[in-house]
Amino acid sequence: MNTLNVELGARSYPILIGDGLLTQPEVLDRYVPGRDVLVVSNTTVAPLYLPSVAASLSGRRIVEAILPDGESHKTLPNVSRLLDVLVTNRFSRDCTVLALGGGVVGDMAGFAAACYQRGVNFVQAPTTLLSQVDSSVGGKTGVNHPGGKNLIGAFHQPSAVIADTRTLKTLPPRELRAGLAEVIKYGLICDAAFFAWLEAHMDELLAGEPGALAHVIRRSCEIKADIVGRDEREQGDRALLNLGHTFGHAVESATGYKQWLHGEAIGAGLLMAAAMSRESGLVSAQDVDRLKRLLERTGLPTRIEGVTPASALDHMRIDKKVKAGRIRLVLLRSIGDSFVTADYSEPALLRTLDAYFDAAVVNG
Ligand SMILES: NC(=O)c1ccc[n+]([C@@H]2O[C@H](COP(=O)([O-])OP(=O)(O)OC[C@H]3O[C@@H](n4cnc5c(N)ncnc54)[C@H](O)[C@@H]3O)[C@@H](O)[C@H]2O)c1
Ligand SMILES: [Zn+2]
Repeated sequence: MNTLNVELGARSYPILIGDGLLTQPEVLDRYVPGRDVLVVSNTTVAPLYLPSVAASLSGRRIVEAILPDGESHKTLPNVSRLLDVLVTNRFSRDCTVLALGGGVVGDMAGFAAACYQRGVNFVQAPTTLLSQVDSSVGGKTGVNHPGGKNLIGAFHQPSAVIADTRTLKTLPPRELRAGLAEVIKYGLICDAAFFAWLEAHMDELLAGEPGALAHVIRRSCEIKADIVGRDEREQGDRALLNLGHTFGHAVESATGYKQWLHGEAIGAGLLMAAAMSRESGLVSAQDVDRLKRLLERTGLPTRIEGVTPASALDHMRIDKKVKAGRIRLVLLRSIGDSFVTADYSEPALLRTLDAYFDAAVVNG
C-alpha cells in the first residue's frame, strides 16, 4: 500500500492507494469513526463492491443510498434525497458519509456530507481512474445546474481517500481512457518528465497493467495534493488544475452532458488550451503535436461535432472561471509549464474555437 498526505493543517488527510484495500477491514475500520455510516453508491458500483465494503464495516449501523448512474443525475434533488435519508435515519453529527463510486457519486455524497448538520465526516472510496487521480482529492463537492456544470457546491475535505486499484479491473475501457485525460493534464501542468513517462508507458496503462496504473495514481495525487495544499480555495495556483476545463466544460454543457464523458471533454479541452497557447505565440508546434499524438494513442476524441463555435463561446462564458466578465484560461508555455491568465487575445480564442468546433455532424 502507498500512502501520501494532503497537507491542510487540521484538515490534513491521507490518500491510500493499493490493491484490494476495500476488502481489508482494518483499513475501513481505521478511517470510519463512529457508529453510523451512510454508504452512497450507484446502481452499477453497488452490486460490485458494496457487499465487501459492508462486510469490512461490520459492527456499524450501515445505511445504503443507491443513486441512479450517470452525470445527468448529479443534481440537487438527488443530494436532497441523500439528506432525507440522513434525517430519516436520525444520523448524528458523528456519522460518516462514505462515497463508493466515481466522481459523480463522490461529488454528491461530499456535498451531502458538507450540508448535513453543517458538515459531517466524509470518506472517499473512488472506483474510477478519474476519481482516483482527481475528483476524490481536494474537497470540491457539488452538483450540476441546468445553467452550467458544477455551479452549486461547497468545499468539504474528506478525512481519508481510499483508492482500491483492484476496482479498476471492472471499469469500462472508455472510462479508463477518460481518466487518463486528467492524468495527461498533470504532466502538462507541471511535470514534463511525467508526460514523457506517459508517452513511454501508455500501452501498459491502456492494458490495465496494475503497476503502471498505481504509478500514475500516485504521481497524479502527489501533484494535486501539492497544489491543493498551497491553495485550498482556488485563490491562485489551484486554478492550474482547470487546464483544459474551460474548453472542456463548454463541450459538456453545449452537448447537454450526454454525448461526452467528462474526461473525454477534458482531453479535447487540453488540446484546445494547447492550440490556443500556440495561437498566442507561446507553446511550440512540436509540443502541441506531442499532446495530440498522446491523446490519439489514448483513444480520446479531439474534434467536437454538432456544436457551433459561437455556442461554445456562450457556454464558456457561464463557466465559473469567469471573473469580472473576462474568461480566465490556463495556457501553456511548454509541456510541464502552465499559467493562469485573463490577458489573452480574443481573436486567438475565436480562431481556436473555429478550428475545433464544427456545427456539422459527420455520420459514420
Ligand atoms: N470534485 C472534483 O474536484 C472533481 C474533479 C474532476 C471531476 N469531477 C467530477 O467527476 C465526475 C466524473 O467522474 P467519473 O469520471 O468517475 O464518472 P462517473 O462517476 O460517472 O463514473 C463513470 C462510470 O463508471 C461506472 N463505474 C464506476 N466505478 C466502476 C467500477 N469500478 N467498475 C465498473 N464501473 C464503474 C459508473 O457507474 C459510471 O457509469 C464529473 O461529474 C466531474 O464533474 C469532480
Ligand atoms: Zn476534470
